Amino acid sequence: MSIQALKGFKDILPDEVGIWQHIEATARDIFHRFGFTEIRVPILEKTELFARSIGEATDIVEKEMYSFSDRNGDSITMRPEGTASVLRSFIEHGLQAKLPVQRLYTIGPMFRHERPQKGRLRQFHQMSVEVLGLDHPRLDAELIAMGWLILEELGLTTTLQINSLGCPACRPAYKEALVAFLAGRKEHICEDCQRRSLSNPLRVLDCKSSHCQEQYVAAPAIIDHLCQGCADHFSQTKASLDLLAVPYTVNPFMVRGLDYYTRTTFELVTDALGAQSAVGAGGRYDGLVEQLGGAKNMPGIGFAMGMERLVLLLNQQNADGCPETTTDLFVAALGEEATVRAFPLVHLLRRKGLQVAMDLEGKSLKSQMKQADRAKARFALILGEEELTKGEAVLRDMTSKEQQQVPLAGPPEALCAILVAAVTRTEQ
Ligand code: HAM
Repeated sequence: MSIQALKGFKDILPDEVGIWQHIEATARDIFHRFGFTEIRVPILEKTELFARSIGEATDIVEKEMYSFSDRNGDSITMRPEGTASVLRSFIEHGLQAKLPVQRLYTIGPMFRHERPQKGRLRQFHQMSVEVLGLDHPRLDAELIAMGWLILEELGLTTTLQINSLGCPACRPAYKEALVAFLAGRKEHICEDCQRRSLSNPLRVLDCKSSHCQEQYVAAPAIIDHLCQGCADHFSQTKASLDLLAVPYTVNPFMVRGLDYYTRTTFELVTDALGAQSAVGAGGRYDGLVEQLGGAKNMPGIGFAMGMERLVLLLNQQNADGCPETTTDLFVAALGEEATVRAFPLVHLLRRKGLQVAMDLEGKSLKSQMKQADRAKARFALILGEEELTKGEAVLRDMTSKEQQQVPLAGPPEALCAILVAAVTRTEQ
């Protein structure tokens, strides 16, 4: 029996990869326009890094991490998200000394042992950004607007929900109010929520049970419990979003699945993907650098977009803009002599920057023209015995079917120049 991929782990096949590259290229371009530089961090980290940042009492740390002991007996984990690793690297390499405000992005696979379903995998890919060293609310809006722009340039429609989770000064009072509320509803909420109302009360608001959600409609909202600093930060973030014409709704019960957030949190959501509604999400985490052993008062904010969900949406919404893979020129050489002649010519054309395909075995014309069609070739150069004798090959425009003769005499560079000119002329 053949071996299959693990459940929740997916191959990205050759006919899907174009859309992935398109998403990645669009995002990279926008990241660069906003002054971000790429950072690449390892997939494996010490388990402690995630426990300390994401939080011991979160779903991710409690039940979703791929953690194991390596051969030395150390507990290591395949990263379930990128923020903790980027911050670890930021602290470890003293990046703040090089630039007071760091704008970093990273793209790559993440791992969570969740129940796989549409838009939810165990290995999934995130494009994530982090800004360290600035706590101005205008930055919150700028970052959210960048996420919005990525979706806009991809041709995707989503909605933006924002909230503020307060700070260590105002959250304890809110927690108290929430715990008191939950104590009064103990019989009406699920066991998980009962347990969490003691260990990590904010998490209950994230519960997937509709029964619990019905109860939480009446729960106290954190935005009514913000201290003056957090309330000002939130209203300035909203005003800055207005300036950038990014539409949003405030969702006072959005708590996010990770414990490190403070103040602004946000999600870019769609109703087109069933239960997996967030295509991107993030927020501010002003205490996290210090919590991981770095500098005190080092604010941070970031977000991540789930690439699988973007691919699903793009396929669903049929957004155009994803370039089709084509070939500039297919060289159809017939028979051994012509093939030997064409082989170095093709190499030369590729060195000149053209996308060129050829059949290395010199198969029949019919078979080669089929290959040219499959490769979506814009031009075909036909070079058989007859053409060799005449000293002229045939260049066919595969769309208009027009043909022209091109001379074979002279050095290969001359023929190469004619072909490059013919192919690039039609591009303009
Ligand atoms: P997160 O909300 O856990 O945040 O994930 C961000 C995005 O990753 C989600 O909105 C979703 O699109 C995608 N995602 C998450 N889990 C899966 C999955 N199992 N399958 C497919 N896609 C998934 C974070 O990870 C934070 N590190 C974001 C952040 C960066 N906050 C600040 N900086």
